[in-house]
Amino acid sequence: MLQRKLGDVGVGAIGLGALPMSVEGRPDRAQSVATIHAALDCGVTLIDTADCYGIGPGEVGHNERLIGEVLAARGAEASGVVVATKGGQYRTPDGGYHANGRPEHLRLACEASLRATGRDHIDLYQLHAVDPAVPFLDAVGALAGLQREGKVRMVGLSNVTVPQIIEAGTVVAVVSVQNRLSPGSLAGLAELRHCAAAGIAFLPWAPLGGLRVRGTEPAGTSVFAAIGAERGWSAQRVCLAWHLALAPVTIPIPGASRPGSIIDSASAAASTLSGAELARIDEALGIGAEDRPA
Ligand SMILES: NC(=O)c1ccc[n+]([C@@H]2O[C@H](COP(=O)([O-])OP(=O)(O)OC[C@H]3O[C@@H](n4cnc5c(N)ncnc54)[C@H](OP(=O)(O)O)[C@@H]3O)[C@@H](O)[C@H]2O)c1
Repeated sequence: MLQRKLGDVGVGAIGLGALPMSVEGRPDRAQSVATIHAALDCGVTLIDTADCYGIGPGEVGHNERLIGEVLAARGAEASGVVVATKGGQYRTPDGGYHANGRPEHLRLACEASLRATGRDHIDLYQLHAVDPAVPFLDAVGALAGLQREGKVRMVGLSNVTVPQIIEAGTVVAVVSVQNRLSPGSLAGLAELRHCAAAGIAFLPWAPLGGLRVRGTEPAGTSVFAAIGAERGWSAQRVCLAWHLALAPVTIPIPGASRPGSIIDSASAAASTLSGAELARIDEALGIGAEDRPA
């Protein structure tokens, strides 16, 4: 698979978003295991997860354990797979997600993630969200401390603004930013532009529009389906190829709970759209030259 840089590590340009295998609507365990194996079989070497991916507050680590068990079953062959997890967010009984960026919580959460993934360090530890009740640099500083102790190899941020990316960079080397970016949600282009200029990997979350579009074309427009019909590709494959064309720092992490989804999504790494096709997409989405990374 085409490779991209995450810090000093090369990873396949398409990662696996593991969230759909643990939250509401998840498949049975056998299907999830088959989905992760399918991803690895087609060259995926980055798996995105979080401690809070489970149903409600009682399932902390559900998704991390699933990934850890599959990677352990594959043995040495999977030792180079980058597991990117997150701390700093928790689920409430009503199904919500809330931030907890207190340094003492992040430390305990990181240690729990180490146990859940079954690895001796976390490859990429991402601050899941900014907690307005905690000074931002206190939360980022906690991740820097975990990195100094060797528990965390690389540090990333999620759901942050450009000023926060810059501020975090004063206390830790930020290798990645994971913000929402999809055809139906383009606000993340601002942080993508910053990351492209700064050489920081950008992991668009919900790159296809999120779980509500499960099994359908990416939200917002039919231009992806139209190009897909001409190419003989799925609309999702076209959408991910568009993401990859936005910037060399982009590493999409499409979610999957079926092997077929991630096999198709991974094929986007070998799918180059023409300049004319990219212009059609830009026009359909209302993206101007100034919106794209330089
Ligand atoms: N940092 C954050 O705050 C945050 C928030 C949300 C998500 N995330 C991360 O971002 C990842 C991606 O987001 P997401 O999973 O919410 O949404 P998404 O990637 O936009 O969409 C996922 C859904 O699209 C379907 N799909 C994926 N590839 C497909 C293909 N080639 N053909 C047909 N259907 C396809 C999957 O269906 P099936 O389930 O049927 O396979 C999946 O349920 C998550 O898994 C998670 O790791 C992070």
